[in-house]
Amino acid sequence: MNVPDIIIAVDGFSATGKSTFAKMVAKEFGFLYLDSGAMYRGVTLFSMENGMIAEDGTIDETALKTVIEDLDLHFRNDDGKTCLYLGERCIETEIRTLAVSSHVSPVSAVPFVRNYVDKRLRAFSEGGRVIMDGRDIGTTVFPNAELKVFMVADAEVRAQRRYDEMVEKGDTPVFEDIVKNLAERDYIDSHRETSPLRQPEDYVMDNTHMTLHEELVWCLGVIQGKFGILEAPALSW
Ligand code: CDP
Repeated sequence: MNVPDIIIAVDGFSATGKSTFAKMVAKEFGFLYLDSGAMYRGVTLFSMENGMIAEDGTIDETALKTVIEDLDLHFRNDDGKTCLYLGERCIETEIRTLAVSSHVSPVSAVPFVRNYVDKRLRAFSEGGRVIMDGRDIGTTVFPNAELKVFMVADAEVRAQRRYDEMVEKGDTPVFEDIVKNLAERDYIDSHRETSPLRQPEDYVMDNTHMTLHEELVWCLGVIQGKFGILEAPALSW
């Protein structure tokens, strides 16, 4: 099935499986996948490593503001996997720790941080045929995206998925810490002043009880309906 050159925005609460879904769709249809959360995590890691976040979580916004436009955060494709780089350093592992997760929502609520990330995302997406996941892609970064998906899932299921993901990477997380972190981030992300997480009107997917294959079939159905494609879909798996 020929999917047109469109921009697909995938938004939703923390750990609803946005990146897994977006990567799968990107692979299936030959789209570029961009993880906007990774950019916010990258700015957070940089701030932590450079003493711009105090122990009580206070952000030194003045210091961050003076360097942010020079931050060279970009994606590279390493062996088929998209990885975030800070200059020449791959920071893909470091940005996924619970320490970064615990500071990322306050950092991403800072307007000049959002401005920096938005600009970079738009530059990376020139030409279209992109699927991007985040909190404000369909509402702020690409309000004209041709397809907007909003993902939700039950809180317990989300925490369990994130727990399993971290254990698989060799971490030893405490389940309750993850539950707490997801709840805190959901709250901050939905209540901040600049580009809060909001459900756009288009397509809502509750994947609490869905397999990945069911998600892909769902997405195909949506694309067929939206673009009037009658051709029978042939999935690669
Ligand atoms: O993977 P997970 O859902 O846990 O989070 P993420 O997509 O890596 O995003 C990490 C954090 O970055 C979120 O909790 C938000 O605070 C922030 N974020 C944002 O504000 N806007 C985006 N478009 C993407 C992420």
